[in-house]
Amino acid sequence: MTQPRDVSPAELPAHVAANREAWDGFAEEYVPNAEASWALRPGDEKWGMYGIPESSVHLLDDAGLDGADAIELGCGTGYISAWMARRGARPVGLDNSPKQLETAARMQREHALEFPLLLGSADEVPLPDASFDVAISEYGAVLWADPDRWLPEAARLLRPGGRLHLLLNSTLMYLTSPDDPDLPVEERLMRPQFGMGRTHWQGETSVEFHLSHSDWIGRFRANGFEVLELQELQAPEGGTTSYTWMPYEWARRWPFEDVWKLRKTG
Ligand SMILES: C[S@@+](CC[C@H](N)C(=O)[O-])C[C@H]1O[C@@H](n2cnc3c(N)ncnc32)[C@H](O)[C@@H]1O
Repeated sequence: MTQPRDVSPAELPAHVAANREAWDGFAEEYVPNAEASWALRPGDEKWGMYGIPESSVHLLDDAGLDGADAIELGCGTGYISAWMARRGARPVGLDNSPKQLETAARMQREHALEFPLLLGSADEVPLPDASFDVAISEYGAVLWADPDRWLPEAARLLRPGGRLHLLLNSTLMYLTSPDDPDLPVEERLMRPQFGMGRTHWQGETSVEFHLSHSDWIGRFRANGFEVLELQELQAPEGGTTSYTWMPYEWARRWPFEDVWKLRKTG
């Protein structure tokens, strides 16, 4: 039976400790999504808040997964790692929350699908350089870890030519969000774009990191990544979501999530 292995740094940086506590608290809410997502078979995978089909975003198709060593940075309940395993990859799931990994381990047992689960932070991963062909993060390290720390780690862990695929809130979502994260996004700018980065939402102890597109591109290039594609996602016609702060009408008119596909050069 897979038990998550603790590879956490001896001392967690303050935002990593805060996010560990926060995600241990959120973990129970994410169980239904884990159960539904683990059950999806190759070709049926769905992404993000509006369940956009893999056939539209090709986050897995374009990664070259068959026979690949893959790491999921912030794997949560591990369903994306399970999707990668079913597509012929050898995944490793890394996450900062013991409780999220408990769900992942339980899902592994229920689906008789095992792969290593590591408890630790994406900004300090005690694995050798050039261990992976693919790294993926869906609302994981890409949102909750410091890009000035986890991006160099992702670059170090990938082999030359390796893929880094990311999905997270759009920059426009951030700019139009009220301080209270439970309130819906507005149709006007609510905050400056200059100075984006570390973000504390009102009433939350957790820390997120949001960047503008140009700040992302600068960091990708500084860490030896070539940008292959940026997709700005639109909610599918008739789409639904449980995230009430991202209304359908808004998500039909403006990009609500960003997908980045990158390749490590050299
Ligand atoms: C919204 S979940 C996304 C994971 C996955 N896609 C899912 O839905 O289960 C965010 C995850 O990022 C993890 N996380 C936060 N900070 C992290 C860090 N520094 N390193 C690795 N994982 C982190 C959290 O523990 C949480 O499980």
